[in-house]
Amino acid sequence: MQIEFEGKTLTLPVIKGSEGEVGIDISQLRAKTGAITLDPGFGNTGACQSAITFIDGERGILRYRGYPIDQLAAESTFLEVAWLLIKGELPTESQLEHFSDTVTHHTMVHQDFTRLFEAFPKDAHPMPVCAAAVGALATFYQEPETEQSIQEAVIRLIAKMPTIAAYSYKHSIGQPFMYPKNALEYSSNFLNMMFANPCEEYVVNPVLARAVDLLLILHADHEQNCSTSTVRVVGSSRANLFASIAAGISALWGPLHGGANQQVIEMLDRIEQEGGDVQKFVDRAKDKKDNSRLMGFGHRVYKNYDPRAAILRESCTQVLNTLGVSSRQLEIAMKLEKIALEDEYFISHKLYPNVDFYSGIIYRALGVPVNMFTVMFTLGRLPGWIAQWIEMRNDPDTRIARPRQIYTGATERSYAPIEQRSSS
Ligand code: ACO
Repeated sequence: MQIEFEGKTLTLPVIKGSEGEVGIDISQLRAKTGAITLDPGFGNTGACQSAITFIDGERGILRYRGYPIDQLAAESTFLEVAWLLIKGELPTESQLEHFSDTVTHHTMVHQDFTRLFEAFPKDAHPMPVCAAAVGALATFYQEPETEQSIQEAVIRLIAKMPTIAAYSYKHSIGQPFMYPKNALEYSSNFLNMMFANPCEEYVVNPVLARAVDLLLILHADHEQNCSTSTVRVVGSSRANLFASIAAGISALWGPLHGGANQQVIEMLDRIEQEGGDVQKFVDRAKDKKDNSRLMGFGHRVYKNYDPRAAILRESCTQVLNTLGVSSRQLEIAMKLEKIALEDEYFISHKLYPNVDFYSGIIYRALGVPVNMFTVMFTLGRLPGWIAQWIEMRNDPDTRIARPRQIYTGATERSYAPIEQRSSS
């Protein structure tokens, strides 16, 4: 492709992805013309080439390593999906067995590490606690970076993340930490560490453990989103995997990223408290003078039904049936969805339910408190962050991330002695 700038013609290579996506390579732009591009929010900027996750938001497609999300949700487990994302192929039976076994045997944290949690206030939000704890893992595993130490860090992170997440919750409610149980599968082990206590037996319900596994699968990767880009940017400076993932957790904490499912639950609560008038909330979301939006609707990338929301809608009903509870929130959510999907405003704006619309209802039914919702997202997103970090490190084109800017501040001026300054 050719562009003309200030009388100069520049030929820019066009890069084509395996699904026909097209990008214009501008890496020589500044060197050849002196100009840079300006793209706040990076909506038009590809930061890398990646072979991990494919999304077609117009058609509602999400695939990990080529496998459609609905097939993985129906057939796979979270640990298998983690292997797939990180290694690139589905594991053989013996590879999966070995991987699960290794993860299971690294779930405990160093006893000194547990004291870290005591330093946080009782009402500490579990997300910054998790970010701090993952960063602190780097102080317990300080080996020089080699292929093998990276592989060990991968296992340690996947194995210890549920333990760290559950400990951050137990600390916040003043209960003793529950050690991991090697006899339990990944998601059952997490539920046990969250909800068991030393005084009585806790039996993990397999339907609920499967629902957690499903939620983790659905959140496992989503290409170059805010937290994943953060992990890549931090890792591009050669910061270690623990430090890079800790930064990703901090990015995910923001309400515009990982915090939306909490807002969905709060909105459903509000609708219920105000008498269940769903139409009123839909009308308010359409009114440009009113700042409210339908939380859990719309997505920067999906301009069609988010495929993950369709899967969760079904799981939601299954979880509630298993628990034998009727959820007023689910009723309201389904009513809301029906009205919105038939409404001209939502149709013309291509606003469909996203993954957060139903996940909060499931978490609440499982007994997961609202401030742990984003931590659940963290558990799921971890293998995606790891896969993207490794891909970035192995990519010969990786350079330290260092965007440029268009400076708009004062031009050069002379330093004024303090007595000559006036306040403006
Ligand atoms: N309710 C009502 N109107 C909406 C909504 C909504 N949920 N979302 C977008 N719109 C409207 C906007 O008012 C705007 O209308 P206009 O063109 O007439 O002015 C148009 O749709 C485009 O909206 P943008 O904000 O420009 O879309 P963007 O892609 O930047 O935002 C976002 C996407 C942030 C997800 C937005 O749809 C939103 O705020 N949704 C509610 C919050 C939410 O559910 N977030 C979770 C996202 S999923 C995740 O992060 C895992």
